[in-house]
Amino acid sequence: MTELMIGEIPVSQLAKKYQTPLYVYDEKKMEETIKAFKRGFTSVHFQTKILYASKAFQTIEMLRLIDSQGLGLDVVSGGEIYTALQAKFPVENIYFHGNNKTVDELRYAIENGLSHFVADNVMEVEVLERLSREYEQKLSIMLRLNVGIEAHTHEYIVTAHIDSKFGMLYESEACQQAIRCIQESDYLSLEGFHAHIGSQIFDMTAWFAEIDQLVSYLQDFDQPLSLNLGGGFGIRYTTEDTPLPIEEAVEKLVSHTEEALAKKKLSIKQLLIEPGRSIVGEAGTTLYTIGYIKETPHQNYYFVDGGMTDNIRPALYQANYTCDLAKKLGEEKTVKVTIAGKMCESGDVVIKNTFLPPAQTGDLLAVYATGAYGYSMSSNYNRALRPAVVFVKEGASRLVVRRQEYADLLRGEINGTSQI
Ligand code: LLP
Repeated sequence: MTELMIGEIPVSQLAKKYQTPLYVYDEKKMEETIKAFKRGFTSVHFQTKILYASKAFQTIEMLRLIDSQGLGLDVVSGGEIYTALQAKFPVENIYFHGNNKTVDELRYAIENGLSHFVADNVMEVEVLERLSREYEQKLSIMLRLNVGIEAHTHEYIVTAHIDSKFGMLYESEACQQAIRCIQESDYLSLEGFHAHIGSQIFDMTAWFAEIDQLVSYLQDFDQPLSLNLGGGFGIRYTTEDTPLPIEEAVEKLVSHTEEALAKKKLSIKQLLIEPGRSIVGEAGTTLYTIGYIKETPHQNYYFVDGGMTDNIRPALYQANYTCDLAKKLGEEKTVKVTIAGKMCESGDVVIKNTFLPPAQTGDLLAVYATGAYGYSMSSNYNRALRPAVVFVKEGASRLVVRRQEYADLLRGEINGTSQI
């Protein structure tokens, strides 16, 4: 019997120590991915910067790891800013995104020293202008543009989605007004343009189209601006996913940008990207314990002690995953089985129709590549407790989020007579 090891630790030890369900992150894997990003994403023609899109998985320890590797941060809410501040993340390295940042969130950001804002629409730019004057604080603004390109894994659509809730069409009056507002302001400066064309992208030509589009806007400006290409690097959930190695993918982005700029005799100050999923996705594994096993006329079910509350992606996006019985790695996979969760929803399925060895109650199941948008989209539906998160490295494990306990479920509940 071969047992799955993560970070040089047999997973049954982790399950015993921390209980299941459990999110396990391989720190070394995250560090190696970040290093590959850093190796590939450099240029002699302009500066480069990698921001971690923390919505994929945000905890204080994760942000410490990101900071220790010298990456910046993409945040999208007051809550993400709060976590970053608690992690002592350098504020000058935080970029605040979002299509409807509230005035309170913007004030919170400015009062805490954030200076990079990715503004989504003209109204937001006007609010930022007013706030920057009120606080007498200089702010760098990137404008999020809708470049009319939408990438879907292996293909992309041009002039798609012009009605997206995100970003502005460069040619629109609203965008031109936003640019004028920044240029006329004493406190705002135009850092450049941002776009994000999708997630789980494998098709480099979609990125190239995005770059060409963004570069074409630069002709209207005398000073070199910066371009942020967004995130979206695809990862391997199943063997059907065939991403390029990260280093190669980002090298191609840099060289395509260099060529596009050279063709038009333009230059930029900085090129940014903001990967989320690709940094944490494959480094994360969820451990479950199998409870009951059931046969129906057309299905075999293995039921696990978590489900859509710790991973909503199969139910929400029909996302596919792979798994193993963690202590029976070498055994033949002879049973066609559906892994279902324990929540009161028929759609609470973790993996449909996969193959596994025969299992017994109490067996450990490892679901791979759950590191992105699993914990961050988890819920307490059915009053399920959020699992613990452990980081493992070189034979050592450390708990970075403790498993919830029942009392956590009542935090915030009041009797209705208290005045708040
Ligand atoms: N930048 C922007 C502006 C974004 O909107 C996103 C993701 C990213 C960067 C990071 O993209 P990534 O590298 O992680 O693909 N919940 C969905 C994914 C939503 C992505 C939203 N935006 C999922 O679980 O697949």
